[in-house]
Parts: sequence; C-alpha cells; structure tokens
Amino acid sequence: MIAVVTGVAGFIGSTLAQELLRRGHCVRGIDSISDYYDQNLKYENLKKLDHPNFEFIHGDLNSVDMRSLTTDADHIYHQAGQPGVRKSWGDDFATYVEANINGTQNLLESVKESKSLKKLVYASSSSVYGEAEGFPTAEDAATKPRSPYGVTKLAAEHLCSLYAANFGVPTVSLRYFTVYGPGQRPDMAFTRFVKAAVLDQEIVIYGDGKQVRDFTYVDDIVAANILAAEQETTPGSVFNVAGGSSASVLEVLELLRQISGKALTIRHERVVAGDVIRTGGETSKINKELGWSPRTRLEDGLKKHYKWAFENYGSQEPSFEMPSINVSTNQSA
Ligand code: NAD
Ligand code: UGA
Repeated sequence: MIAVVTGVAGFIGSTLAQELLRRGHCVRGIDSISDYYDQNLKYENLKKLDHPNFEFIHGDLNSVDMRSLTTDADHIYHQAGQPGVRKSWGDDFATYVEANINGTQNLLESVKESKSLKKLVYASSSSVYGEAEGFPTAEDAATKPRSPYGVTKLAAEHLCSLYAANFGVPTVSLRYFTVYGPGQRPDMAFTRFVKAAVLDQEIVIYGDGKQVRDFTYVDDIVAANILAAEQETTPGSVFNVAGGSSASVLEVLELLRQISGKALTIRHERVVAGDVIRTGGETSKINKELGWSPRTRLEDGLKKHYKWAFENYGSQEPSFEMPSINVSTNQSA
C-alpha cells in the first residue's frame, strides 16, 4: 500500500504517518514546512519518521508536480493546510486561500484521472459549522463558518465533493473537532496550557473561559483517517470526528490543576474574532458506517499531553494521581 500524506511534518500528519509506517505501509510525505510556527518543531516531527518505507518531499502543494507524486498512490491523506481560526483575518487570509483552497484544488486536479487511487481523505474542520444551530451537531446541519479559516476549509470540502460528483474521485471529508495530544501545535490552547503549567507561567484565557470544545485526542483522529481510507464510503461523503468530551476552557484548566497539582496563574483577555462559543459533534454517522468511536477520555488524553510537555519543557518527571472530575459530555447537553 502506498500512502501519500500531505502536511506530513505537522502535528496530525506526522502522528498519522508514524501509525501508517507502524502498520507496514509505504509513506510518501509532502510538506512545505511553512513558517506559521517554529519550523524546528516540524523538523523534529520528521525525525520521528526515519524509516526505510518513508520518503519525504519538501515542497508546496501549489508548486510541486502533484501528478507524479500521486500517480501510484492507493490512499491520500490530505492534512496539509494553513490552520488556526484566530489568525485568518486581514492580510493573512491570502495564505489561507492559497494553502487550503488552491492547494486542495491542485491536488484534486492531479488525481482526477488516477487509476490507482482508492481514497482521498481530506482534513476538514468543525469550524465549517460556525455557531451551530444545535448540539450535538450532525453533518447535515447548516454550515455557516464564523472565521475566514472556516470559509476556506468549507470551500475545500466542497471541492472534494465536486471532484467526487464530476470525476468520481473517491473523496471523504473528516470534520475534526479541536484535536489535542502530544505534538499539538504551539498556538493551540492545550499546548499553551500544559507548557505554562510545567514552566509556572501565566495562562491566558480568551474571554470568560466558558467556551466549550468537543476536544478530540490525536490517536482517535488517526484511527478515523485509516478507517475512512480503508473502508467503503460514498464518494464525496462527510463525517464528524469528535471526541465526545465537550468541556469548557475553565473545566479543562480545573482538570489540569488537578493533574499537575499546581496553582495555575490565569489572566483573561478579550475574545478573539472568529472564536465560536461552542462546538459538539454528533458521531453516530461515522460510528454506524465506519465503526469509529472516540476511545480516549479527556482526563486520560490531557494527562498524556501534560506528560509530553514535561518531557519537552520540564526538568523532572511529573508525579500525579489520575483525577476524577465530572466533565459534561455532548450527549447530555
Ligand atoms: P499543522 O500546521 O501542524 O500541519 C499542517 C502542515 O501542512 C504543516 O506542517 C505545514 O507546513 C503544511 N503545509 C501548509 N501549507 C502547505 C502547502 N501549501 N503545501 C504543503 N504543505 C503545506 O496543523 P495540524 O493541526 O496538524 O492540522 C492538520 C490539518 O487538519 C489542517 O488541514 C487543519 O486545517 C486540519 N484541522 C486541524 C484541527 C486541529 O485541531 N489541529 C482541527 C480541524 C482541522
Ligand atoms: C482548533 C484548530 O486550531 C483549528 O485549526 C481547527 O480547525 C479547529 O480546532 C476545529 O475544531 O475545527 P480551536 O477550537 O480554536 O481551533 O482550538 P484551540 O486553539 O485549542 O482553542 C480552544 C479554545 O481555547 C478557544 O476558544 C480559544 O479561544 C481558547 N484559547 C486558546 C484560550 O483561551 N487561550 C489560549 O491561549 C488559546
């Protein structure tokens, strides 16, 4: 099996590629090593992929010859993109359009006549829903992004469905809900929080901290990708991939306080434009069609993320008891 992973040096792409290699696949990874965050972190991710079955192409989806890189691919896991909800305004929007819309369109053009391709899995986002009408939000709910980032992720999702309808490209879009775990991007909440806890630094909460996310552990995202690639799905289909553990930022920090045994220093700042009040994904569709359900509870995942932060930023091993805390689930909302 030949798997092409775009965005292979990033958080999700590198975690996915490690699992594919572990399962014996040949992995061809493509990444432009964009400068959205510290590029050294991406080179560190690539070091973990040192394996005889791994090939790395340093290039941009919009400029490399994607046709030759995908001509023999069985599966394409399209994780490359410009992420980050809060930075997608103003001049930065052009970067989002280029990476998320143009990059996806270029990839789809290159595979539309492929004879080998069995599946193209696209990393879509819960941000396509914006402020959702109800919770848990199902795939057929209205899509009204609230950030320019969400607009570009939704546009690319539409492109995937269009190429499926017109050319039979076997696409499947997975709408990830706020992904966390070891290796998470440094601009995201959990990595900022666990790093601050380890280093006894200040934590910044945007707004009152009552905003809720359906946080999803990265290994569960990887499992969903592989199931979506390897199982039969209707071309152009869309699935939520949500962790089933909707929690507010304040609840997450309470959990982190218990895990770390530290008194956290918190400062509140203004809400950032584009941030939604709540996300929560209905996952019965992916459960029924692909047999996927989230396996990692928020408590367990955050503990692993905190341990990772200790290994990366701390000077001694953490010692902690597993906390028992009630975090509301999206089913009861
Ligand atoms: P990441 O930034 O760590 O990884 C994305 C990678 O894509 C980066 O290494 C970057 O260099 C590469 N890239 C960007 N533009 C490129 C281009 N034009 N050509 C080639 N490579 C390019 O981000 P992540 O958190 O791992 O997210 C991966 C994907 O999942 C993104 O598409 C993101 O929109 C989507 N997603 C992420 C989350 C989340 O919570 N992390 C949630 C929903 C959706
Ligand atoms: C995340 C990813 O960054 C997006 O790429 C992705 O598409 C999106 O999930 C998704 O689910 O679709 P976000 O939910 O904003 O976006 O993820 P975090 O950065 O982890 O933020 C979670 C919450 O914590 C947000 O409300 C944010 O405002 C808040 N936050 C973040 C803080 O209060 N302080 C911080 O330092 C960082």
